[in-house]
Amino acid sequence: MSALPARDPPVTADPSAQAPLRLPVHSDELFADVDRAATVAREHAHGNRDLMGLVDVLGIGGPFRTVSPWAFEDEERRHLIHAGGYAAVPFGENYPPLVRTVERYLAETRDIGLPQSSLSAWRAAVEENLVAILASVAPSHARSRVFFSNSGAEAIEAAVKFVRFSRPGGTLINFTRAYHGKTAAALALTPNEEYQAPFRPLFGPVRTVAYGDLDAFEAAVREIGPDKVTAVVVEPIQGEAGVIRPPAGFLAGLGELCKRHGILVVADEIQTGLGRTGHWFASVADGLDPDVITLAKTLGGGMVPVAATIAREDVFQKMLPGVESKRHSNTFGGATLAMVVALRSLELIHEEGLVAKARRDGEVGLARLRELAERFPDLIVEARGAGMLFALQIRAVAPSRFLPVDAELVDQVGAALALRALHLGGVHGCYSINAQRVVRLTPPLNLPEELRDTLFDRVEATATAYPQSWRLLTTMSPARWMRLARLAL
Ligand SMILES: Cc1ncc(COP(=O)(O)O)c(C=O)c1O
Repeated sequence: MSALPARDPPVTADPSAQAPLRLPVHSDELFADVDRAATVAREHAHGNRDLMGLVDVLGIGGPFRTVSPWAFEDEERRHLIHAGGYAAVPFGENYPPLVRTVERYLAETRDIGLPQSSLSAWRAAVEENLVAILASVAPSHARSRVFFSNSGAEAIEAAVKFVRFSRPGGTLINFTRAYHGKTAAALALTPNEEYQAPFRPLFGPVRTVAYGDLDAFEAAVREIGPDKVTAVVVEPIQGEAGVIRPPAGFLAGLGELCKRHGILVVADEIQTGLGRTGHWFASVADGLDPDVITLAKTLGGGMVPVAATIAREDVFQKMLPGVESKRHSNTFGGATLAMVVALRSLELIHEEGLVAKARRDGEVGLARLRELAERFPDLIVEARGAGMLFALQIRAVAPSRFLPVDAELVDQVGAALALRALHLGGVHGCYSINAQRVVRLTPPLNLPEELRDTLFDRVEATATAYPQSWRLLTTMSPARWMRLARLAL
């Protein structure tokens, strides 16, 4: 008989023999000061080390400290105007009217934090106000219902379940370069090889059609068979693809076609919704009357994770009826703190006229960026925008055929260097996670006018300093290049 392999003693064998747990970091420490070196070490040891490493090499990773709702400083005390946050920061950081409401809620109310399957005045209020806002522009939604979750991707998962339940067994149609998130169903709707390839087989069936091409959409519906198409999932403007607007009439035409065949329409307004593009809902503004709408980002006021899936009454009720009303749920959706922030955020957007302001400021900003694209064609291929959602497509920093790396990597580095150049010039921008060579500016909707002008002055100064894209390569010292090469290759 062979001997049994020796085993480690079970860890709980003698608790008294183990050293008592001491948490390495205490919150008091962080209130006192930010120790950058310790932060870097901790993130590198236990977080997404390579991502943090990349932003650190580029010198754009902070940690940042706010100096006002709309600006912050990096570790070198460089003043940066906030145009980052991936369109999820509608009021800047710590906007006093939002902070005061949160403080008041914490000090004055005794409502429970996780109402879950009990009644919540705060959740009910957000439901009612959200639907009122939607119905003010799309009256057919007056009786729609709201399901809360915690991230955009989760709002998409709920949307997919709603439409699948309502119209089972069919294909979902999405669009080229769409971005809907990275959880299972959302990932299946996000046609990007880097994100999808390792995880096949994906949730499906999904058919991907060229964005903005109504004929291609109609042909796909005909080929699949209208009765076998469950729904189309569409961004009214593709944010992560680099602020791509479909041709005029595309969304209205899509809606008409779907209505004719009973195909459900999901408008993903996670990035575009609630004022960002100068409209409460970009899809509705372009003539679509969707059956389901997903929201996140702005709804969380730049402060808390919160997402919503709004569905027509019949679609909602079919999936969540009677004792099956728990068929889809999550622990934290509708949590009271998140609802307090969401409620106040909707109020602030409304009371401060931020939808119209985003439209006005967006026109001013886009005019300035287009002027730069004309003046600096060797740096900027195109400037695009929709309200306070701006994109600059950067010319390739080097012809990749001369380099021993693939073109995509060169393009990614180009966008990263443009972000670095903007950072050195005092602008905190954002990457476009579904587009190469595109940097985006997504400033707070309430950015004061002087700061808006300073923001675009700084973008102009950056373009003047690097008038050809290859010059972006000079923003990095040889030592930084070495570190970047070690990380990227
Ligand atoms: C249109 C759209 N849908 C979905 C998502 C996913 O949201 P989240 O990152 O909160 O999961 C995003 C995020 O950028 C988005 O822009």
